[in-house]
Amino acid sequence: RKRVAILISGRGSNMSALIDAAKDRAYPAEIVLVVSNRPDAGGLQRATENGIATAVVDHKTYGKNREGFEQALQSVLEQHHIDIVCLAGFMRLLTSWFVSRWTGRMLNIHPALLPAFKGLDTHRRAIEARAEHHGATVHFVVPEMDSGPTIAQGTVPVLPDDTEDDLAKRVLAIEHRIYPLALKLVAAGRVRVEGDHCVIDGDISAEDAAL
Ligand code: GAR
Repeated sequence: RKRVAILISGRGSNMSALIDAAKDRAYPAEIVLVVSNRPDAGGLQRATENGIATAVVDHKTYGKNREGFEQALQSVLEQHHIDIVCLAGFMRLLTSWFVSRWTGRMLNIHPALLPAFKGLDTHRRAIEARAEHHGATVHFVVPEMDSGPTIAQGTVPVLPDDTEDDLAKRVLAIEHRIYPLALKLVAAGRVRVEGDHCVIDGDISAEDAAL
């Protein structure tokens, strides 16, 4: 099984979805490490309760020294012999120095149907734009923010009276389904990057329905 680290900054509900999926012995990845850039991230406790090693690499310790922060991150990942990194609500931009070390081995989840609504406040912006559909995307990380080949996407409707919160909840439920699916496919070696998109080996409709 591939050794996976999850990077978080907050409550870690996507982290929990990945931890739960990986409890199945047949799942091709195990979550061996959770790293937070914030000492107070709620997800850290949940990780510990699940017997998973945790580390805090506090960006504030490094001030403007991004390189120092990323070197510390890299060394904790190396100490734990990590194969795959999953960003799950990790709210720091990573430089190409770090990203290039994890090409094809680092995933991110973004709460929008990329390439629509990169960046922050995606739910509010989707409502303001009167989008009919919204959703979430799991993609490989490249140096450019919220870009990179898409591995999985999940779509939800935007309903007429939706508040930002209503929509966020609906999207989050789909995030918790597509992230475990995407990691499973990557860990099993079933995702091939061809230029700017991914090709998935095999039929995933049955697996998706089972999630
Ligand atoms: C999720 O909705 C995730 O997609 C989003 O933050 C939330 C984290 O929730 N990520 C980003 O906005 C990345 N720029 P969680 O901590 O409960 O998984």
